[in-house]
Formats: sequence, structure tokens, C-alpha cells
Amino acid sequence: MAVSLKGELLRRSSVAGTRFTSSSWFRSIEPAPKDPILGVTEAFLADQSPNKVNVGVGAYRDDNGKAVVLECVREAERRIAGNQFMEYLPIGGSIKMVEESLKLAYGDNSEFIKDKRIAAVQALSGTGACRLFAAFQQRFHPNSQIYIPVPTWANHHNIWRDAGVSMKTFRYYHPESKGLDFEGLMNDMKAKGHFPFFDMAYQGFASGDPERDAKAIRIFLEDGHLIGLAQSYAKNMGLYGQRVGCLRLVDCFKLQLRCRMLHE
Ligand SMILES: Cc1ncc(COP(=O)(O)O)c(C=O)c1O
Repeated sequence: MAVSLKGELLRRSSVAGTRFTSSSWFRSIEPAPKDPILGVTEAFLADQSPNKVNVGVGAYRDDNGKAVVLECVREAERRIAGNQFMEYLPIGGSIKMVEESLKLAYGDNSEFIKDKRIAAVQALSGTGACRLFAAFQQRFHPNSQIYIPVPTWANHHNIWRDAGVSMKTFRYYHPESKGLDFEGLMNDMKAKGHFPFFDMAYQGFASGDPERDAKAIRIFLEDGHLIGLAQSYAKNMGLYGQRVGCLRLVDCFKLQLRCRMLHE
């Protein structure tokens, strides 16, 4: 592999080698700022108080502050333990996992699933799904913008900025009433023809019922919108470290082959 920098060619593993030293290659690179949420975890770990509680990350914890592993996850572990299947998955990930994820989001009897109107791929948890969508947006709609809600998960800004998508913000939250800022929302979203993208990182956390929490998505579909959806299983399945997620786009069926557009 070779990388061209200021007209010069840097070769990796070339015998002729290059006069660039690693320090000159990395000189212009600033360390990334610390993630504000993970910074809270670092401060928590450094704190010596015996009574400390970390409320910086939305994660299940037992009375001793340890991560809770759900019984269904333990059961799944038991079932796959010793499984000899270590082969590559298709490039879109585990088809079975993606199919089950579709049902969780859209319902077992969804017409969209039956009609194969949803293109979907496995992703590196919710963050990876958002990043894939941002890259998709940048590639296929380079002049489009992303409207990011205020407030939101801080990483949304980094993800779309790094993908090179221009960003705007919109209000939706009214801090005094802790309700919807309808006026702010309507003022900020005056332009028509938006494509709704949902980042569903907590399905089941709002009401305790995953079906009920998926209602917003299903209403948008019933109203005839095309939507994009990032799904994460970090919080609701307690799979924080496994990085399991999905990206799906409704009505990419014109591309004929499910998932094709994310492979090209
Ligand atoms: C709204 C939102 N989306 C995505 C994520 C990231 O999820 P994951 O850990 O699955 O990448 C978070 C995590 O805090 C979140 O709050």
C-alpha cells in the first residue's frame, strides 16, 4: 500500500524505503479530544471514594456497581459455546441477526419486511451504524445536510463532521416543561423534504417494552416516510463491549439487492 503526501510517495514495507520517519509522518496530527462521556468514567475510576456511583453511562448495574448480564444473554452464550462455526460472515454481517433486528424494530408482521423493502447490514454497534449512514449520506447526497437535535448524544456531531457532512441543529426539547419545544422545532425545521434518521440506542428503556418504544419509527413508516435507522444492543441487551448493532434503510429496494449499496 502507498500513500501520497504532498506529491511524495510513502511506501509501506518497501525495501527502497522512504526518508520519512514516523515522527515526521505523525507531526501534524493532534491527539483527539477526550470523549466527554468516557471522561466521566475515567474520573469515576480515579475517584477513591467507597460510595461512588457512576451515572455517566446509561448501563445496567447491580448493587455492587458491576455490569448486569441478562439471563437471556447468558443463555445465548451457553447455546453458542463450543460452536465450531468460525467462518467469515457475509460482508453485511450475520443475516439471521439482521433479520431478527428488523423484527424488533418494525414488528414481527411488518409489511416492509415481508415486501423486502428494507436494506440492512450489521454494524459496529450504534456508533458504527451512525457512521455508516453518515458515509452513505456523504457519498450519495454530498450536498445534503444533517440536522442534529439539541440536545443530543455529543458524538453525533463528531460522526457527521468526520464524514464530511455539513451540519445544522434543531430544537425539540423544552427544559422548563421537560416536554416538546414545538415552536422551536417548527421554526428550525422549516425546509421541507427531510429524510428522517433515527438513532435507536435505548429501545425498551423508555417504557420497559421494546414494542412500545419502537412506536415512533412505526408511525413514521405508516405516514409514508422513508427512514433510516441505527440500532444498538449495547444498553438494552447489556452488550456494552460486544459492539452489536445494525443500520437499515427503508425503500432502498430500487437498488434491488438488499445491502448492495453499502458494499459498493
Ligand atoms: C443516542 C445514542 N446513540 C448511540 C450511542 C452509542 O451506542 P453504541 O455504544 O451502541 O455505539 C449512544 C451511547 O451513549 C447514545 O446515547
